[in-house]
Amino acid sequence: MKRLILSLTLIISIALTRADEGMWIPLLLEQLNEKEMQDLGFKLTAEDIYSINHSSMKDGIVIFGRGCTAEIVSDQGLILTNHHCGYGAIQRHSSLEQDYLTDGFWAMSREEELPNPGLTVTFLVRMEDVTEKMLEGITADMTEAERSDKLKENKDTIEAEAIEGTHYQARVKPFYYGNEFYIFITETYKDVRLVGAPPSNIGKFGGDTDNWMWPRHTGDFSVFRIYADSNNQPAKYSENNIPFTPKYHFPINIQGVEEDDFTFVFGYPGSTQQYIPACRIEHISEVVNPIRINFRHQRLDIIKSYIDRDDLVRLQYASKSAGIANGWKKWIGENKGIERTKVIAEKQAEEKAFTQWAEADSDRKKQFGGIIDAFNQLYAEISPLEEEMVLMSESAFGVEILRYARSFSSLVRLCENKEIPDEEITEGIDKLKKAAISNFKNYHQALDRKIFIAMISAYITHADPAYRPAELEIIDKKFDGNVSDYADYVFENSIMASEASVNEFLDNFKRKKYKKILQDPAYTLATAFADKYNKDMWPILNKYYAEDDSLQRIYMKGLMEFLPEKRFYPDANFTLRVTYGKVKGYQPRDAVTYKHYTTLEGIMEKENPDIYDYVVEDKLKDLYESKDYGRYADKDGSMHVCFTATNHTSGGNSGSPLLNDKGELLGINFDRCWEGTMSDIVYDPAQCRNISIDIRYCLFIIDKYAGAGHLVEEMTIIE
Ligand code: ARG
Ligand code: ASP
Repeated sequence: MKRLILSLTLIISIALTRADEGMWIPLLLEQLNEKEMQDLGFKLTAEDIYSINHSSMKDGIVIFGRGCTAEIVSDQGLILTNHHCGYGAIQRHSSLEQDYLTDGFWAMSREEELPNPGLTVTFLVRMEDVTEKMLEGITADMTEAERSDKLKENKDTIEAEAIEGTHYQARVKPFYYGNEFYIFITETYKDVRLVGAPPSNIGKFGGDTDNWMWPRHTGDFSVFRIYADSNNQPAKYSENNIPFTPKYHFPINIQGVEEDDFTFVFGYPGSTQQYIPACRIEHISEVVNPIRINFRHQRLDIIKSYIDRDDLVRLQYASKSAGIANGWKKWIGENKGIERTKVIAEKQAEEKAFTQWAEADSDRKKQFGGIIDAFNQLYAEISPLEEEMVLMSESAFGVEILRYARSFSSLVRLCENKEIPDEEITEGIDKLKKAAISNFKNYHQALDRKIFIAMISAYITHADPAYRPAELEIIDKKFDGNVSDYADYVFENSIMASEASVNEFLDNFKRKKYKKILQDPAYTLATAFADKYNKDMWPILNKYYAEDDSLQRIYMKGLMEFLPEKRFYPDANFTLRVTYGKVKGYQPRDAVTYKHYTTLEGIMEKENPDIYDYVVEDKLKDLYESKDYGRYADKDGSMHVCFTATNHTSGGNSGSPLLNDKGELLGINFDRCWEGTMSDIVYDPAQCRNISIDIRYCLFIIDKYAGAGHLVEEMTIIE
């Protein structure tokens, strides 16, 4: 008993001391966080952040594209987000002759702002707790399958009712692993234009070398504008659309940032796993992450060898390689953080105490007894299967020709069905023709062939033969085990290997010809992998995941009862959250202390004209030499570039506003420091820091560097 009490106090103290941790629900701020925020220095109220009755800060926040956040900074719909969030759009407007990605882009008038088909921004209209409605008709004796069917039915009804007669969208999302549910009513604008982007050597300064790192000097911002129809309503792109008039826009404070200042970040963190059991963390750090790291490393090396000698390839693969590298580096950092925080041992101790607590009471025992053992057993089964899935997705699905070949399956399906009229097939062909243009715009065959060889070889070395697609036997049978010869065969014989052969095939397509696709070597291999994945592995894994979900739901409920003093925040699920903390530096390792900010001096220190990531443009150097920073200089006379704070953020928070005690914009969040990337699993207040671009550097680049001061004039600046 004494031991139990001891371990309980230990756990409770661990659970309670992580200040700054948490991604909170805006709707519940008043109840859960307002007082603490105010104690920490916040000068406003929860109602100022999120209100359903009048306009509030939430009306100035949008989901940008599919995975980022942006904030409105003028009454004419101007928005700020990260350069890496606008990257795809900037790249799509770029070519070797007119290279906005490299040189930057600035619209000097409204007419010059560039439309981006497919790019949207989404506002939250309101959110609501719908737990009770969702759980209507759910009983304790239901099977998990019955439960999930009923939930689906309730969800459909609730969503449909919520938006009846409006142009809004609605989504019910589970929180705390399905112990609670909230509905999100949203409104999406579809005409979003590119207004400005710094050149890559500002917007991506430091590149993948500095990514996830502090000290950082990246001017990671871009500028867009929302357009609406003449009634300020969402509309597809049209010349006649006009700048959107927002309900709220953020004032910008250029007085500067001091250590320990209160800050909060308002945005859309994508996904975290704060309440998973120790065995799952073990599985992530020992099985999943090492495969991802190893395979991506190989792909990145190959891409780099091509980028380094060919500028066109650099343009084509800039965004792709940034995406691959981003995950690769994060998982390396995450694994280090998991080890350093000893979170696995910590969770195991917590689980032991939890089990003792559960067993000490008959009702609790019935609900929660044996749950940790059940997790351990389940993960013993999930782990080897998930390992195979990760192996396959990081290798085979990392080969571009195989991913591209899969897109022909839609045409096959149409042709196989005799009832489908010819017109639909023509439409299918048109779609494939369009897809071919965008695929081959950024495709380099020789590079992909190298990746094919590396990835298929790695897959064969590591995968369990039981899961290997039979198609791969051809390598031994026909090519003497030589993957390189097999690659030659695939690339020389596949229609999908070049734009010319795809076009020739599609231009002369007749219904019966679809059989040619079925015999295509890239298509057959891609389909063999996809079939294994979708038919043999995914259904089994999905069943395990359903079990895992239900265990997590029960465990979450148990944890909340076990630690009644602890304020739990739900895992991130790409819904709007508030996280708050302080401006702070940190100590990454023994004897080393990092300041909370960087300056232009640091850019000049890193400058190296021979290394792509560290080139500094003459114009920026001139401004630096003449110290021509205008009102954007710090009190100390220098130009501050980035700063760190203790806000608990995640992927998706990129582009989120970093706000001061009065809700004024101080910076744009864009990253976390490497020592803290495990914060999706465990938050360490000593090492977890979010990184923002100092808004003064952003305005300095717009105004002094790009000469686009007319944009700053639109903003509300607090000097
Ligand atoms: N690490 C940041 C985030 O996860 C920035 C990524 C983009 N930059 C890059 N160099 N890949 O999204
Ligand atoms: N860079 C991330 C993003 O794009 C933010 C993060 O993971 O901290 O959302």
